[in-house]
Amino acid sequence: MQVVTSIEELRSIIKWWRGEGHSIGLVPTMGYLHEGHKSLIVKAVSENDRVVVSDFVNPTQFGANEDLSSYPRDMERDAAVCEEAGADVVFHPEPEEMYFEDNCTFVDMDGLTKGLCGKSRPTHFRGVCTVVSKLFHIVTPDRAYFGQKDAQQLAVIRRMVRDLNFGISIVGCPIVREEDGLAMSSRNTYLSPKERKAALILHKSLSAAEEMAKAGERDAGKLISAIVKSIKTEPLARIDYVELVDAETLEPVGSIKAPILAAIAVYIGKTRLIDNFSFSPEA
Ligand code: PAJ
Repeated sequence: MQVVTSIEELRSIIKWWRGEGHSIGLVPTMGYLHEGHKSLIVKAVSENDRVVVSDFVNPTQFGANEDLSSYPRDMERDAAVCEEAGADVVFHPEPEEMYFEDNCTFVDMDGLTKGLCGKSRPTHFRGVCTVVSKLFHIVTPDRAYFGQKDAQQLAVIRRMVRDLNFGISIVGCPIVREEDGLAMSSRNTYLSPKERKAALILHKSLSAAEEMAKAGERDAGKLISAIVKSIKTEPLARIDYVELVDAETLEPVGSIKAPILAAIAVYIGKTRLIDNFSFSPEA
């Protein structure tokens, strides 16, 4: 496995692979890899001849008061995880390699990005769409892998690929959780032991609502109330949003008639965590 820091070098490797007739999978990440990331890489390795993992803390998707400078980084460990998962190349560029100082071109989206996480992070998805577009242009993958953990991001990327005719298959992968149910996240490392315990309320509240939906509850308001009530039992938790939206359009729904996404963002202390479940009424 190779760690590549320059776009030019990565392009020449891709050209070589294409000459050999290889299919290529891409797994975009911001590093500090855990089992959730690894599950994406393992899936990509099983479905493509060659796999690139990008490991880049993308500055354009962080808001001014967000955690860009403190975002955890450990390239040595990341390389070991990628190697073990069977990746061929880790692309680890410096910010100056990815963005010209006078960069003024961005990929933005009108729909899908205004609600949910877009409400409290208004410039986030512009940064995500821009960096993912750049990675798609550099790597030209056949398939790219994204986690259902960031369900809005997955829907946004699918829409961008459709709208801009990228011709890349987007593969969604299930949420990987800790044994006690907490969705794995690089940001879990910010949690103190007490907060780590409190963070279980995200999965707990969502699981209870999912059971209600499975038992036949179709009223979105009732499901949202149940989730809110459950989260409020945890003193260290502060709700950013609790929403039930159409799985494709991400528009809020009043009742469940088609596949939905129940998505939440909750501050545990200063750390903002997200989680979700998907549900189809006919399932
Ligand atoms: P990052 O948060 O590092 O996540 C990289 C990929 O791993 C995303 O597709 C995310 O959904 C997936 N992932 C994270 N935790 C997961 C879990 N517990 N189970 C399954 N998949 C999980 O998402 C980003 O980086 C960035 O926005 C990026 C797309 C790389 C653009 O900069």
